[in-house]
Amino acid sequence: MKILITAGPTREPIDPVRYIGNRSSGLLGQALCVAAIAAGHQVTAILGPLHLAIATGVHRTDIETAEQMHAAVLSEFPKHDLLIMAAAVADFRPVRVTDHKLARTGKLLIECEATPDILSAAGRIKQPHQRTIGFSLESAGNIARSRQKLVQKNLDLIVYNPLNTLNSASIDAVLIWPDGREEPLPARSKADFATVLIGRAKALW
Ligand code: CTP
Repeated sequence: MKILITAGPTREPIDPVRYIGNRSSGLLGQALCVAAIAAGHQVTAILGPLHLAIATGVHRTDIETAEQMHAAVLSEFPKHDLLIMAAAVADFRPVRVTDHKLARTGKLLIECEATPDILSAAGRIKQPHQRTIGFSLESAGNIARSRQKLVQKNLDLIVYNPLNTLNSASIDAVLIWPDGREEPLPARSKADFATVLIGRAKALW
């Protein structure tokens, strides 16, 4: 299989120095790359700013903003069988980016707009031979919202995970399949989880 994996945070610039970001470590995406290569797949990774080594053999593209990840995914997805969207894309970006460093005076009000929904965009151009997997980071117990995202983003599988997964070495997940089945994968290392998910991916066809 040719697998496209996104990982890590995105950074949305405020001025040349500051940005809006999130706490994503990229560890899950890193583990998914290792597991996919170990299973003999061809892997492309689109990575936000990370301080992690990525498995040898992965074709990697580094990006910074949600807009850049959006462009990279739309250009790469047609060449792949499966997209695994593990990136923690920033949900909002400043409407205006100042070209000089803002001085620390008075108050700063930053007007933001939503970033493009990359997974939904991939879901719209998905061909019959292609599959998409999304993640859904929710406050504990909010599986109903994950189910909505599965449908709204035209996914083939969604991984529900509670907020404490972010920046953690382990993951406590539930796989939600399109037929409504829930498959709990109780807390385990991200490496073990990645091996299970890459194995399950075959069942998507
Ligand atoms: N995602 C994306 N583009 C965005 C935001 C999220 O492709 N701009 C992807 C994430 O990588 C993840 C899935 O959509 O695989 C769900 O992300 P999540 O943050 O849970 O949902 P959102 O669509 O951002 O909705 P909300 O933040 O309102 O819960």
